[in-house]
Amino acid sequence: SGERTKEVDYASPDRGTRVKVFGRVHRERKQAQVLFVTLRDGFGYLQCVLTGPLAKTYDAVTLTRETSMMITGEMWEVPPGAHAPDNRELHADYFEIIGKAPGGDDAITNKVQEKGDPQTLLDQRHLVLRGEKAAAVMFVRSAVEHAFHTKYHELNYIKVSPPALVQTQVEGGSTLFEFDYYSEKAYLTQSSQLYLETALPFAGNVYCIEKSFRAEKSLTRRHLSEYTHVEAELDFITFDDLLNHLEDVICSVIDLVLAQPRINKMIHDLNPKFQKPSRPFKRMRYADAITWLNDHGINNEDDKPHEFGDDIAEAAERRMTDILDVPVLLTYFPVPIKSFYMTKDPEDERVTESVDLLIPGVGEIVGGSMRMHDYEELMEAYKRNGIPPEPYYWYTDQRRYGTSPHGGYGLGLERFLAWMCGQHTVRDTCFYPRYMGRCRP
Ligand code: 4AD
Ligand code: MG
Repeated sequence: SGERTKEVDYASPDRGTRVKVFGRVHRERKQAQVLFVTLRDGFGYLQCVLTGPLAKTYDAVTLTRETSMMITGEMWEVPPGAHAPDNRELHADYFEIIGKAPGGDDAITNKVQEKGDPQTLLDQRHLVLRGEKAAAVMFVRSAVEHAFHTKYHELNYIKVSPPALVQTQVEGGSTLFEFDYYSEKAYLTQSSQLYLETALPFAGNVYCIEKSFRAEKSLTRRHLSEYTHVEAELDFITFDDLLNHLEDVICSVIDLVLAQPRINKMIHDLNPKFQKPSRPFKRMRYADAITWLNDHGINNEDDKPHEFGDDIAEAAERRMTDILDVPVLLTYFPVPIKSFYMTKDPEDERVTESVDLLIPGVGEIVGGSMRMHDYEELMEAYKRNGIPPEPYYWYTDQRRYGTSPHGGYGLGLERFLAWMCGQHTVRDTCFYPRYMGRCRP
């Protein structure tokens, strides 16, 4: 039949069950008169044992790694010493080759070397993904994305799908991808935030998981041109509500993911040190971070001591989180270094009700804030930031038709995964990464 490995009940392998499996040769090894083939099919890895005439028909030139095949036989439970994944084996009595894969000089092992040059690995990403490590990250990624959906669903947030093609900016003009939209100027969205805000009056709290695009003209290990953005917007809240909600979502998603044995094992194989952070997260005001940086001799980008108003650059931010070694909710950034829509702290007009969540090893993984809900204040903010208000009429209207104190955040899924899976760069958490200079495969 054309069905996949349905007959195999991986949860309770039962010696003697006859099965027919389809998959690709992940590994093969010949020992005297026995041939061991590890078959990979997405559900897992299965050791298949070919003996007698089956092993004799084996031809090293045809049964190369990545060859796709069908094998029939009996499932056996085997002792842990047998080195079979999940302690089970398929004792084959028949096989068919479906699609050969090249051996010799064109073998996948030659094309994809674990220690190969990074650009070659990226050119061969379609083959690299067949490796255990890259595949495990994709499985974790799927589980994490699913967990966010589950968590928001439990909170009764509805999901909307904002447009990717837009005519407004959210996070500054310098990282906009501009294009010609039927002779009009348009951009790839930097964030769905403004659209999420317009959903509050009909939806209550709302979220989306969509692509965001940034024309980042720098090559760092945490910047992509296209990334997956988990964004939520909460109505009638205080800044403190927002911080508590953030902790809850992050910890719940980690719980949901770690509760799945296969995914849990993948995460700990990839990152043995990973553990869920304890609540409450450490909270630190921007102003106190500036003092902390200076106390620790960490200078700003001009190699001078940090001053109030400085951006905390990527390197300084990472050194700080590496030393603190716990997630930090960094709050109340100065007005000039934050986005136009952020509310000012009523107790200190110099700073915004804003938050970045910083994680050891990665740095910022979340950016969020309370949003200006006063019409006049927003009009002032457009002016101060040199933003023409016309294209934003629909955003502004939220302040004219029943405004509300509200706030939200965006989380970079790839940065979250880099943390969880202990990956050095966000590129390794993407299916096919996009960053300056790379748009293939
Ligand atoms: O801090 P950012 O720019 O905030 C916003 O876009 C808000 N409008 C989100 C909101 O409030 N709804 O981006 C949010 C997060 C960052 O913390 C980071 O994790 C991720 O998006 N991010 C990137 N990830 C990969 N590559 C890039 N170039 C990224 N830029 C931002
Ligand atoms: Mg940010």
